[in-house]
Amino acid sequence: MEIVNILNNYKVFIGDGILKDFDRLIDLNMYSKVVIIADKNIPADILNQYEKIIISPGEQNKNIETIQLIWNKLLELKCDRKSLVINLGGGVIGDMGGFAAATFMRGLDFLQVPTTILSAVDASVGGKLGVNFAGVKNLVGTFSQPIGVICDVSLFKTLPGREFNEGFGEIIKHGVIADSEYFDFVTSKNPRDFTDKELMRIIKRSCEIKKEIIEDDITEKGKRKLINFGHTIGHALESLSLSEENSLLHGEAVSIGMAAEGKISLDMGKILNEDFQRLIKALDKAGLPVKYKISNREKVLGKIKSDKKSEKGIVYFTLISEIGKAEIGQKVPDETLEKALDFINS
Ligand SMILES: NC(=O)c1ccc[n+]([C@@H]2O[C@H](COP(=O)([O-])OP(=O)(O)OC[C@H]3O[C@@H](n4cnc5c(N)ncnc54)[C@H](O)[C@@H]3O)[C@@H](O)[C@H]2O)c1
Ligand SMILES: [Zn+2]
Repeated sequence: MEIVNILNNYKVFIGDGILKDFDRLIDLNMYSKVVIIADKNIPADILNQYEKIIISPGEQNKNIETIQLIWNKLLELKCDRKSLVINLGGGVIGDMGGFAAATFMRGLDFLQVPTTILSAVDASVGGKLGVNFAGVKNLVGTFSQPIGVICDVSLFKTLPGREFNEGFGEIIKHGVIADSEYFDFVTSKNPRDFTDKELMRIIKRSCEIKKEIIEDDITEKGKRKLINFGHTIGHALESLSLSEENSLLHGEAVSIGMAAEGKISLDMGKILNEDFQRLIKALDKAGLPVKYKISNREKVLGKIKSDKKSEKGIVYFTLISEIGKAEIGQKVPDETLEKALDFINS
């Protein structure tokens, strides 16, 4: 088993088959009740002895109505301040179950059990919780840390192809912004070809990179923005795709976003063409999209400009200067942004 310490106050346990006796890792004696929140796709029978709240899957249900449903269920189940919530699922369950727990009775303890690779390497770590609102991704939420994260790689076996690969969108991003050797390793094979042991190593390194970045800046005043590479354009496309039939998964949107923001980095003379090509090839090899048919460019530009991370109406991008190095707070001329949209739309 691998362990990563986050912010000196909780641990990410990474192992194969560790969920079944997680009570050896987390002391449950102090809790009056344990409640699992999961969605319909998640094999929740592993934790059969606990009460469950099962919600409808997907980003379209990451909203305040589902939060109300969870709060109601927590009431019905007679949860009190000493109850523990276990979020068993992907990033949607983690963000939403965490938000419901962090606000119910002014805050219950919660444990994150990621069942997607994406949530293991990203969403479960760092304490950002929330829901989409008024068509904007994660507009309403809070920062609150879990009591721990149990990352059991055996849970990923049932992930469908797209959901498996999308995790590598965030994994590759970690390499691109912080560690070129890691980038080379995680792009050396197709995602499905990594062994469980290698996958554990990858999750550990990704959690470490995220931890190193967020540790000094938990509420995202500066350095934490490094992890937003690919997300300014990615979130805009992801939000707009929610109302379409074939909506993008988060990791897919981030992949297209990295292609576009990589192109901006290239056009602004920050990276070499060779590095840009390496990035595009790596995403493609991981089975991730780098192109996207933009049906309404005005809407995309509008979404980018209303990014919730904008300051005084100006959007600042995180760009890359080489594979393994990113820079926050970059202003981008309109025509460069347009060219980046042309690139992904071509
Ligand atoms: N809080 C953060 O810092 C942070 C970071 C990154 C992403 N996120 C959020 O995470 C969300 C994306 O997470 P995600 O990609 O895990 O999405 P998700 O939770 O919607 O999971 C993707 C799909 O896989 C299914 N699924 C999950 N685990 C499964 C399993 N083991 N077997 C079979 N099917 C399974 C789910 O039901 C869902 O249909 C987005 O809402 C994003 O905003 C948050
Ligand atoms: Zn992300």
